[in-house]
Amino acid sequence: QPHFSHRDGELFVEDVALRELAREHGTPLFVYSKAAMLSALAAYQRGFAGRKARICYAMKANSSLAVLQVFAQAGCGFDIVSGGELQRALAAGGRPADIIFSGVGKTRAEMRQALDSGIGCFNVESEAELEVLSEVATAAGAVAPVSIRVNPDVDPKTHPYISTGLKGNKFGVAHDRALAAYRRAAALPGLRVVGIDCHIGSQITAAAPYLDAMDRILDLVESVEAAGIALPHIDFGGGLGIAYQGEQPPAADALWARLFEKLDARGFGDRQFLIEPGRSLVGNAGACLTEVLYLKPGEQKNFCVVDAAMNDLPRPAMYQAWHAIVPLGASSAAASTYDIVGPVCESGDWIARDRELAVRPGDVLAVLSAGAYCMSMASNYNSRGRAAEVLVDGDRAVLIRARETVADQMRMERLLP
Ligand code: LLP
Repeated sequence: QPHFSHRDGELFVEDVALRELAREHGTPLFVYSKAAMLSALAAYQRGFAGRKARICYAMKANSSLAVLQVFAQAGCGFDIVSGGELQRALAAGGRPADIIFSGVGKTRAEMRQALDSGIGCFNVESEAELEVLSEVATAAGAVAPVSIRVNPDVDPKTHPYISTGLKGNKFGVAHDRALAAYRRAAALPGLRVVGIDCHIGSQITAAAPYLDAMDRILDLVESVEAAGIALPHIDFGGGLGIAYQGEQPPAADALWARLFEKLDARGFGDRQFLIEPGRSLVGNAGACLTEVLYLKPGEQKNFCVVDAAMNDLPRPAMYQAWHAIVPLGASSAAASTYDIVGPVCESGDWIARDRELAVRPGDVLAVLSAGAYCMSMASNYNSRGRAAEVLVDGDRAVLIRARETVADQMRMERLLP
């Protein structure tokens, strides 16, 4: 995480000491670097220089309004998966025409809301959805721009919960049904075909699955267009991984250089491209600060109990994910091997296992690579309020989300009469 680095033994994000932020705002606290987001985005922009391409940030990775604002101001569109995400994208200044709507379970109400907003494209995930969307559009006196999400059936070699492009998972239309689905879409009165899309999975660290998927998609573009249905854009989804623990995913520009070699060779280099990156834009732009509450030595394990938990950082519990954990500064404590765990009443509430740390109660730790799929997946389990968030830009730090109070949590509830 280049924008998070130690200076004279103190951990900084850009030009701000994390210890100061923890002192001012308390913990658990998510801290993001604007420069890190923009530099991750710049790698994609370099890869697309001279091409027709739009980067639609997959906002499920981190949907905090100020984060969306950074990407909207940098010229990004958004990939959304719900009416709630649509409202957030618009509230943050997203341009409706640059919004694409993915997801297997769009409701009629969400379709109507997206049509009324004038979004750029519906990424349709099933033949049944084509029928419903056409009905909703016709009733609204509109024509819905659609792309069909095709399942290219390649193995992204990632965690099974986040691989999506294989046969046998719920996403997309099977490759061998795609032509029929496009024929149906072209015949429906409420739809206008504007493209094709795929998304093969997340935290992908090799180029090969992308290269294979691109071949499979281009084969389909050829056969759909041979049937007389034009596909003005190709949306290649997201999924590029980040380094959590020394992984070496291809850089976005290097990956796209290889993809464009293939596209140029097959005569598709001048199409309009869309991509939907999430994690690779924000994952390594964030950290979660958490205070050590107790050290609990044991016979088999030593536990380091911190004030962040699985409700703040759900990835270890859900995917056995590994996040680096570093102290904010030097400690005079003796080093020991700990499992770092939260206060939630579940054995699954762990943040890291078997880590060597020199800490004592009151010290603050930074859980790194926490910009993606942490705050956006946070919950109130154990009636824990969600953490506060700060965005740093150079030497300035702005509180972009206040810590959630118990009153906030109980606001929608009613006692029995
Ligand atoms: N487009 C579609 C249709 C998606 O389903 C996703 C992610 C993306 C784009 C963005 O993928 P990314 O570039 O972020 O890999 N919670 C899991 C990850 C779930 C990904 C879901 N889909 C985790 O924490 O690892």
